[in-house]
Amino acid sequence: MAFPTQRLRRTRRTSRLRDLVRETRLSPDDFIYPMFVTAGEDVRNPIKSMPGVFQLSINHAVAEAKRVHELGIPGVLLFGIPAEKDEAATGAYDPEGIVQLAIRAIKDAVPELIIVGDVCLCEYTANGHCGVVDGNSGEILNDVSLELIARTATSQAEAGADIVAPSDMMDGRVAAIRADLDREGFENTPIMSYAAKYASAFYGPFRDAAESAPQFGDRRSYQMDPANAREAMRETKLDVEEGADFIIAKPALPYLDIVRRTRESVDLPIAAYNVSGEYSMIKAASQNGWLDEEKAVLEALTGIKRAGADIIISYHAPDVAGWLSE
Ligand code: PBG
Repeated sequence: MAFPTQRLRRTRRTSRLRDLVRETRLSPDDFIYPMFVTAGEDVRNPIKSMPGVFQLSINHAVAEAKRVHELGIPGVLLFGIPAEKDEAATGAYDPEGIVQLAIRAIKDAVPELIIVGDVCLCEYTANGHCGVVDGNSGEILNDVSLELIARTATSQAEAGADIVAPSDMMDGRVAAIRADLDREGFENTPIMSYAAKYASAFYGPFRDAAESAPQFGDRRSYQMDPANAREAMRETKLDVEEGADFIIAKPALPYLDIVRRTRESVDLPIAAYNVSGEYSMIKAASQNGWLDEEKAVLEALTGIKRAGADIIISYHAPDVAGWLSE
């Protein structure tokens, strides 16, 4: 006699039956692709710690956005690298700032592509912190930062961003952004909030890409302790109450329990951010011949979806879309 589980396992010897009983499927639709847009003309700067990822000037970013759209990926997440940084992060909310210009150019060229603007100050502050720093105490000034973060979000909506995604982790930012967007006539622009964002070593390569490493101290006063899970649920609940429309859990792979708990405790769409370090690990191992890149990537991303993510933000997205259509 065979038990049902055994029968199921045996049926999986043929691929059509394997497909029939598969619980999780990846599709190009699942993805948002992060891109780094830089000031300057005709720049396509490879990021050493992220093989296959580039800092792109606007013309190249537009070309890349077209390619991504043709691959069936619904959206991109834009990070900006301004020509100049200052203490007040002026470049973040400048109507002619790098991200605002990139949003307009991409919207113009590929109107159906969803543009998500990353809302943070760290790429624009001279000291690399996500908020404004008090010159004397060196502390992050939460409430002053909120005002600038809200202005940044609204300036991106004005430029044509479909969604704004605050990643700064200041307290009260979702409510501040919501109020500012509503006041300026962007009641319909959704907020995708990095609700559970951990202080993670896996952001290392991103900081090369975005040139945003903090010049002193670290981000532990505003990002979460990797050891805490209940705290993530509290943070998430606050963001939902403040009006978030999507919740991001980040990083993804070392935090699949958080993705799952978020999925179970919130009805909103959940995005998991497969961050730079997660990407670079698989890339490096594959380039050394230690891992089969396609298999390892598809397995890792299937794991993220299985854990409960509705959306996966990943630098692997174009490769995956290519493999899935083969
Ligand atoms: C900026 C921001 C970071 C990431 C996304 N937005 C870096 C950080 O918080 O230091 C990391 C993304 C990645 O590693 O791919 N606040």
